[in-house]
Amino acid sequence: MTIGVFDSGVGGLTVLRAVHRRLPEVGTAYLGDTARVPYGTRSKETVTRYALNAARLLVERESLGALVVACNTASALALDALRDKLDVPVIGVVEPTAARAVSESKNGRIGIIGTPGTIHSGAYEREVRRLNPEAQTFARACPLFVPLAEEGWTSGDDEIARLIAERYLAPFREDGIDTLILGCTHYPLLEGIIEQTLPNVVLADAAEAVAAALELEPSARPEKTPLRRYYVTDVPKGFRLVAERFLGREIEELLEVDLG
Ligand code: DGL
Repeated sequence: MTIGVFDSGVGGLTVLRAVHRRLPEVGTAYLGDTARVPYGTRSKETVTRYALNAARLLVERESLGALVVACNTASALALDALRDKLDVPVIGVVEPTAARAVSESKNGRIGIIGTPGTIHSGAYEREVRRLNPEAQTFARACPLFVPLAEEGWTSGDDEIARLIAERYLAPFREDGIDTLILGCTHYPLLEGIIEQTLPNVVLADAAEAVAAALELEPSARPEKTPLRRYYVTDVPKGFRLVAERFLGREIEELLEVDLG
């Protein structure tokens, strides 16, 4: 049985990378909807339609034991529809990441960053409060982090990255948070600069949280030669370079598919 990993584009490769690190013997098939990325600025209706249409392709092509919705925006806006319409267990990123943040936080003051779609949905706040009704949440969209990560301007020495991080994250210092949810696939690449901007704040990384959740998934069984397959809906110029930066290594089998 293969574990499917679905994202709006390349970002979910950070989640896949964490899955490969934790469960190296489990077969995986990735689908990035690169023709329609970004999802983070679109309406709930559009994200739901895109996510259902793309995830269905993966379910039809592969014999999936479970589907991981690596995209935070799709997890925040379309998880119920995906669970309702697909015939496989669907694991989103919001629940495991919020759980990790709640268990890490000592003072109950939790920051959340993500795309505009994720932040406006309130999905992380609701989940954090469900787990700890006393918790206080502070949520802000950081849309420029996405192109920054894709461009590879992520080093702590990069002046532009530092200025953007400072502009977005400084208000969290006033809020007195001790934990920050990285609610977007791209943000693990910016961990260094985020730590530098908010020292002493624990980062709750969605990629690691979902990989840990998958360890408990019964269909995530070891295989002798685990599948590594990658589907994309478009191959934009320079795709491999960006994808490999997110995955941390070369992509073997890249298949372009048309969603019509
Ligand atoms: N994958 C998206 C997320 O995690 C970020 C990129 C996009 O906007 O599609 O929310």
